[in-house]
Amino acid sequence: MLKKTVRDINLAKKRILVRVDFNVPQDKSGHITDDTRVRAALPTIQYLRDQGAKVILCSHLGRPKGKVAEEFRLTPVAVRLSELLGAPVLTTSDCIGPEVEKAARYLKPSEVLLLENLRFHSEEEGNDPAFAKQLASVADIYVNDAFGTAHRAHASTEGVTHYLPSVAGLLMERELSFLGQATANPDRPYVAILGGAKVSDKIAVIENLLPKVDRLIVGGGMANTFFKAQGLEIGASLVEDDKVELAKDLLNRGGEKLLLPVDVVVADAFSADARHQTVAVNKVPAGWRILDIGPRSVKKFRSVVKGARTVVWNGPMGVFEFPAFATGTVAVAKALAASDATSVIGGGDSAAAVEQAGLADKITHISTGGGASLEFLEGKVLPGVAALLDK
Ligand code: 3PG
Repeated sequence: MLKKTVRDINLAKKRILVRVDFNVPQDKSGHITDDTRVRAALPTIQYLRDQGAKVILCSHLGRPKGKVAEEFRLTPVAVRLSELLGAPVLTTSDCIGPEVEKAARYLKPSEVLLLENLRFHSEEEGNDPAFAKQLASVADIYVNDAFGTAHRAHASTEGVTHYLPSVAGLLMERELSFLGQATANPDRPYVAILGGAKVSDKIAVIENLLPKVDRLIVGGGMANTFFKAQGLEIGASLVEDDKVELAKDLLNRGGEKLLLPVDVVVADAFSADARHQTVAVNKVPAGWRILDIGPRSVKKFRSVVKGARTVVWNGPMGVFEFPAFATGTVAVAKALAASDATSVIGGGDSAAAVEQAGLADKITHISTGGGASLEFLEGKVLPGVAALLDK
């Protein structure tokens, strides 16, 4: 880890502004439906409390676009965090201003305060220097533990670092270490599995990983564009015609490294109860659409995963929201869970698939960042990381 972390500085009695990513999903009545991100922040919060620091947490929730919106208040998160910590979590009705200044001033060592949603102010996403300065003014040190938001150059992730000594939290450290090792210094054979609907979303990841990996498995809707590039008929399947030439080029460059499905599950409509059948990739009937990979593909991909020492996975193999077309994605999740390789899963859909299959504890690391892990795999510098102090 090239960045300083909470372990590298003296925290006792200091006021610490901690950027966390508490952007959690909620149902219509405001119940948190997945508290993974709150749990993931606990090691840092607990570490700071154990050091006798005064903990001031800040986060965004949703995209309220600079306006106060009741459904995006962080109150339910404060309640959940308090349950998980077994300690009170104080709250304020804003993230800056006199109420926050007072609460921060009277905070005692090991106490925890959660500020209101940063994105109630448009200055947060605008990375406004005056807003960042005001946010920083209540603390002595800044800790960024919000890996999931590290790809955003916002006031609370980048701007604030201009006013306070800034270090990484333990979750940030863990994310950077697993994703970093899996991309820069992997044990080999090194296999990447990429899926999801569109090849355009993953071009930069393919470009970055192709020279590094021993095998690159492509599944999901994005494989259709590669099938078309190979001259195969894909019926009514989703395809990006403007990316067919690029897919041809990637197939040429990838050669034997690039593995595509050999059979697929096709359906006569895009719906959960559509009629479906398994066919070879060169036998897709006219008017049918590819919604999952087939069992021969699963077998092939499983054997590649079995031989790997490092596997990175991002994106489902099919429309896994429909149970009839989730088989391929669940099979890949199982293959990763059964393997001895270091397995790293980018956040978002593939993380959800592993959770749904009850296999999360068998994976080495599941990233809490969707967009952030994708940008990391693209080889991009994350502004929220770059701004932290070097070791
Ligand atoms: C995420 O959920 O990916 C992060 O919390 C970032 O949220 P955003 O895409 O609204 O910036």
